[in-house]
Amino acid sequence: MLIVYALIGSWVLDFAQTVPPSVSIHAVDTSTTFFPTTHPQNIVFAKHSGTALPQTWTNKFDFINQSLLAGCLTRDDWIQDLQELFRVTKPGGHIQLFEPSFESWDCPPNSANGKMKSMYKVLFDNTSLIYDLGVKLPHMLLDTGFVVVGQHKSTFPVNTNDGAPVQQCVGMMIRWLRNLQPPILRFGLLGSAEEYESLLKEMQEEWNHGVPTENFFVIHARKPVA
Ligand SMILES: C[S@@+](CC[C@H](N)C(=O)[O-])C[C@H]1O[C@@H](n2cnc3c(N)ncnc32)[C@H](O)[C@@H]1O
Repeated sequence: MLIVYALIGSWVLDFAQTVPPSVSIHAVDTSTTFFPTTHPQNIVFAKHSGTALPQTWTNKFDFINQSLLAGCLTRDDWIQDLQELFRVTKPGGHIQLFEPSFESWDCPPNSANGKMKSMYKVLFDNTSLIYDLGVKLPHMLLDTGFVVVGQHKSTFPVNTNDGAPVQQCVGMMIRWLRNLQPPILRFGLLGSAEEYESLLKEMQEEWNHGVPTENFFVIHARKPVA
C-alpha cells in the first residue's frame, strides 16, 4: 500500500483525486484551523510539527510532499525537519519539496519588486529564516542522507492579463504579502500601512509588464534502500 505524508493544503485534496482510495494519506500541520470538515476517507488529518513526527512513523511513507514552509522554519528547524522526513520515509521512498528562493529573483533593483526583495532579505536574515531556501535545499537534503537529488525552477504566473487562474494566483500572493505588513513596519522598512499598500499596487503593475515574482523550486530526492 502506498502511504503518503503531506502538509495540509489543496495539494492533499487534489492528490487524493488522482490515486485509488486504497492509498493511505496522512496530512499534518501545527495548526488545525484549515483542516477540512469533509474529505475523502483515505486522508487522516493530524496536528504535528514537521520537526517532531510520531515515533511510530519511522520508515513508513512511500512518498512525502512538503511545501511552503520558508516563512515558518528557521535554519535549525530545517535541519530537524529534514532529519524527521528522512526518518519517516521508507528506504527507497521519495520526497518532494516546493519552496521559494529570493536571492535569484530577477527584478530591477530600483523597482517596487526590487524593494520587496531587499525587505525580504532584512526580514529573513533577522529572523533566522533562509533567504535562498529553494537553492540551498538540494545540498541540505544530501547532507541529511538523501540521494538522487533533483531540482526544477518553476515559474509562478503573475501577469493578470493572462486570465482568471493567474488572477487567482496573484490574489493569493498579495494576501501572503499583506501578512508581512506588521513585521515590515516593525523593522522600520516602510513608514506606514498606506505606503506598503501602494508598494503592493506598484508590484502588481510591474508584474503586468513582465517583471517576475520570486523564484520557486520543486526539489525531489530518494532515501537510499539500505
Ligand atoms: C504557507 S502555509 C503552506 C500550507 C500548505 N503546505 C501549502 O503548500 O499550501 C504554511 C503552513 O505551515 C504550517 N506550519 C508552520 N510550522 C509548521 C511546522 N513546524 N510543522 C508543520 N506545519 C507547520 C502553518 O500552520 C501553515 O498552515
